[in-house]
Amino acid sequence: MGTVILGTGSCLPVKRVSNHDLEGILDTSDEWIQSRTGIKARRISGKGEQTYNLATEAARGALDMAGMTADQLDIIVVATISSHMLMPSCACFVQKELGATKAFAYDINAACSGFLYALDLGDKYIRADPTKKILIIGAEALSARMNWADRNTCILFGDGAGAAILGHQQGESGYINSNFFSDGNLWHLLYMHTATSNNAELCVEDNPGAHVVMEGREIFKYAVKAMEDAVRGLLLKEKITIDSVNLVIPHQENIRILNNLIERLEITKEK
Ligand SMILES: CC(C)(COP(=O)(O)OP(=O)(O)OC[C@H]1O[C@@H](n2cnc3c(N)ncnc32)[C@H](O)[C@@H]1OP(=O)(O)O)[C@@H](O)C(=O)NCCC(=O)NCCS
Repeated sequence: MGTVILGTGSCLPVKRVSNHDLEGILDTSDEWIQSRTGIKARRISGKGEQTYNLATEAARGALDMAGMTADQLDIIVVATISSHMLMPSCACFVQKELGATKAFAYDINAACSGFLYALDLGDKYIRADPTKKILIIGAEALSARMNWADRNTCILFGDGAGAAILGHQQGESGYINSNFFSDGNLWHLLYMHTATSNNAELCVEDNPGAHVVMEGREIFKYAVKAMEDAVRGLLLKEKITIDSVNLVIPHQENIRILNNLIERLEITKEK
């Protein structure tokens, strides 16, 4: 049919930080975090675990599973908002680490949804040229971009990377369709400044520094509705019902949002 995933890989930093560990630095509790989010612990990068290191390890796993070598890759796309440098891209560092000499490489910024956008992008390349082999990666070391004094936000995020190799295969299976939308009007609910401007004319007022700022409660309300709309819109495009879907793989860290989605879509927890 078309674009398929030939292999996947993932990588987590070594250090595991539990909710109990956070009790030591924040006014919070394991009970609060677990009951509000379902989260018990997160991984946090240490020395030698920059975003590109995690991304490279994830890519190696995906190459292994696909039975491929790095020199067979045509394109590398990394979805990230937390590379250790703005330029060159995280993808260029991955290319260097892997020795993927034939590939061109770049990053995309779609924040939490980045991996999905990379997947869609990869599909479009393969539809244009089925011989292409594309490495897509979602990688973050968001611990470097947290305000560790903001208990509303820092408890939710962690570090890690996931990778997939995309290629073309004849047969029944393959990428079918996508349904994306954005709402820039809501930028103020979840944002991160860059470093302050060296051009005084371009300085943004109230720049608190390059860390994530979030209005969790508002995001929560928006996320449940937006995720439902995204799924329903896609089903409508394909003229199918949720009953013919075997598995829903959401990107969302809060178990309460997921439970809400399960109810709205009227699907079983197993799905
Ligand atoms: C962030 C989130 C967990 C907060 O849960 P919530 O149930 O909405 O909690 P609220 O923001 O209503 O806060 C309730 C109270 O708990 C307090 N609180 C917030 N964080 C806390 C923490 N870590 N520990 C203890 N108390 C905390 C708040 O200060 C507030 O106290 P107040 O009532 O005295 O003001 C939740 O809103 C969420 O997950 N939102 C979605 C986030 C998301 O999806 N982000 C995008 C990532 S891709």
